[in-house]
Amino acid sequence: MSTGGPAADDFEAVFGSPPDAVAAAPGRVNLLGEHTDYNDGYVLPIAIPQQTTVALRATAGADQHRVTLHARNFARTVAFSLEDAPPPDAFARYVYGCLREASLAGTTVPSLQVHVHSQVPMGVGLSSSAALEVATLRALRTLTHAPWDDVRIAQLAQRAEVEHAGVHCGIMDQMASSLAASTHALWLDTRTLERRRVPLPAGSEILVLHSGVERTLAGSGYNARRAECARAARLLGVASLRDLAPSGAAQRLPDPLRRRVGHVLTENARVLQALEADAPHFGALMNASHASLRVDYEVSHPQVDRLVALLQAHPAVYGARMTGGGFGGACVALCQTGTATDVAAQVLPGYLRDSRMPGRMLVPWGGVAV
Ligand code: GLA
Repeated sequence: MSTGGPAADDFEAVFGSPPDAVAAAPGRVNLLGEHTDYNDGYVLPIAIPQQTTVALRATAGADQHRVTLHARNFARTVAFSLEDAPPPDAFARYVYGCLREASLAGTTVPSLQVHVHSQVPMGVGLSSSAALEVATLRALRTLTHAPWDDVRIAQLAQRAEVEHAGVHCGIMDQMASSLAASTHALWLDTRTLERRRVPLPAGSEILVLHSGVERTLAGSGYNARRAECARAARLLGVASLRDLAPSGAAQRLPDPLRRRVGHVLTENARVLQALEADAPHFGALMNASHASLRVDYEVSHPQVDRLVALLQAHPAVYGARMTGGGFGGACVALCQTGTATDVAAQVLPGYLRDSRMPGRMLVPWGGVAV
């Protein structure tokens, strides 16, 4: 066995020799700024401690672009060529997309053996796909010495998702996975990519709970919201909703476009207010964000609303909301320092009773309390 750590050992167990490059990237939880990134707005994600690790090795041989990919989470190996259409397995498409985009960007991608292991919870709104994309591109950067900085990696990763996985996403998740830490939130202006690290409010820590609800409509509902925003911007004569002053312009729009625009404008304002907010104010902004996502943007889910309401009612919780694209999945709460695990233990049984859904704790976050 090689001595390159568990990922290298796993790779060697599957492929028989050690990898040439190993890289990891985290998932993220978005604290505020939901459905704003594809409107050129502001977001405030933070990396979660769980990471996805990708190990790869260039294989000899004349045929370029052959990939053998093993996903440890699914105990599954698939093979594909970058010359062909994308492979059917979702996890393989992300890797395929990254390698294709790298190749289009001028990097010579050799034939590869690839091993993937994700600790990031999948399909709940914590960006397991961005973590896989960024880890793949980081490993490829190490292997090929491609001259990419972390922003470039995020941009290639986003293109991989849009072009090859069919989700017309913004750039928040890939920027968060590539540039955020789990000790500070990352404030990002998604138009200019100006960014800065923002500490969590003093006396707070983060808790992430899964509602147990599979994200239905996650792809189609997401793309539909994005199309509605583009239509509203066209009707209002602006390049993107970011360019609207929070005046009454949107009132002229028909429903539901008026409410969609209302969410985006108020959500951008909440992100900016959060930069200066203490914990109670930050929590109130999260609560307002959830209400806006539920009523005006209509991307929440009744069970998620129930879990969020239980969290919001807990005395040690400053605020809570759905997180990520929506239509099910995870919730995030800002809790008093040192209480996150207890809050989860106290809230989840009531949630199970009410909803019959087995919610569970994904990220208790003592580590970032300040
Ligand atoms: C998904 C997308 C992001 C962002 C969020 C909603 O996570 O990948 O680009 O739009 O939804 O805020």
